[in-house]
Amino acid sequence: MSKSVLLSGSTIGILGGGQLGQMLSMAASRLGFKTHVFEPSANPPASNVSSIFTQAEYDDYKALEQFSSSVDVVTYEFENIPTGALDIIERQCEIFPSREALKISQDRLLEKEFINKLGFKTANFYEVSTQEDLTHAIDQVGTPSILKTRRFGYDGKGQLKLESASQAEDIWKESSAKDLILEGFVNFSREFSVIGSRSKDGQISCFDPGENVHKEGILRTTTVPANLTVQQKTEAVLITAKILESLNYVGVIGIEFFLEKNSLVINEFAPRVHNSGHWTQNGCTVDQFEQHIRAITGWKLGNAERHSDIIMENLIGDDIYKTNKLVADGSLALHLYGKADVNPGRKMGHFNRIKK
Ligand SMILES: Nc1ncnc2c1ncn2[C@@H]1O[C@H](COP(=O)(O)OP(=O)(O)O)[C@@H](O)[C@H]1O
Ligand SMILES: [Mg+2]
Repeated sequence: MSKSVLLSGSTIGILGGGQLGQMLSMAASRLGFKTHVFEPSANPPASNVSSIFTQAEYDDYKALEQFSSSVDVVTYEFENIPTGALDIIERQCEIFPSREALKISQDRLLEKEFINKLGFKTANFYEVSTQEDLTHAIDQVGTPSILKTRRFGYDGKGQLKLESASQAEDIWKESSAKDLILEGFVNFSREFSVIGSRSKDGQISCFDPGENVHKEGILRTTTVPANLTVQQKTEAVLITAKILESLNYVGVIGIEFFLEKNSLVINEFAPRVHNSGHWTQNGCTVDQFEQHIRAITGWKLGNAERHSDIIMENLIGDDIYKTNKLVADGSLALHLYGKADVNPGRKMGHFNRIKK
């Protein structure tokens, strides 16, 4: 095996200890890898299933240096990692997916410009930093539209919907951030996503597109197969491959699409394993977590073929109190994150129901 291939027994560093870190760690362990999870908060989900856990802030450079010297490669489970932390890590080991992919996906403006440059469609958008910009953006983009923070948004946070131009002043006052974009509202008939992956030697593999339903900006369910034509699925997979290629990407990516009339509009992408890919845990031989671990360790990718039809449902906030009922239904594959505090909108677990 070449030098860039890590053998079982090597240690994978994971930035972020949430449920994605937990499931990455479990997949790594199945392949004989050790994991070292770095996370600022105490007792995160991944700390229960990692070989080493460091609780430290992302500006604790000493802790970051120790972390980097203890691992053979570094990956991350969320995209809002401070650049300074990555600068420290990169002195000692490689980070996958690359800094470039991370940089683009961290900023909705760069992300949309990147996608348009490749020739793919996004919502109309306009950069907004001042109230005058907002007025101008409304002229360009129209209403309804959504004012979004360029950075740090997730699960619909940092978004304000604008129904008419007359709301501009109120919306501006309500928005505390100043690095924003105004996005035209996409009148979509469906939302779906493709979980793609690319190995170090350029092999590309995509899971079957999953159809997503969001409520209040948070993913509720993913259903496979998605209700799309073969042509639409093929187009989405080809777009995913093109994005992976153009970034010389290594790892798993989650790309969110809108279907508007008959055309595919890209919403955003995440340079990591993705909530809408959780169905792969029970619908495929090799799931998205293992695929990511295979990619970043230089292994060949696994077979992403779907063997079952699946509905994945998230357990959000109080949904966790349904657990007893879900346990009683022995036909569900339950995945619980072990989070102690139940808050509205917090992802507590999910389950996969096999349809056939
Ligand atoms: N331009 C838009 N038009 C219509 N719906 C949108 C638009 N932007 C976001 N949404 C809805 O809000 C959800 C969350 O927005 P998204 O941009 O994906 O942010 P996040 O980073 O929080 O996931 C989307 O999945 C979609 O349902
Ligand atoms: Mg999203």
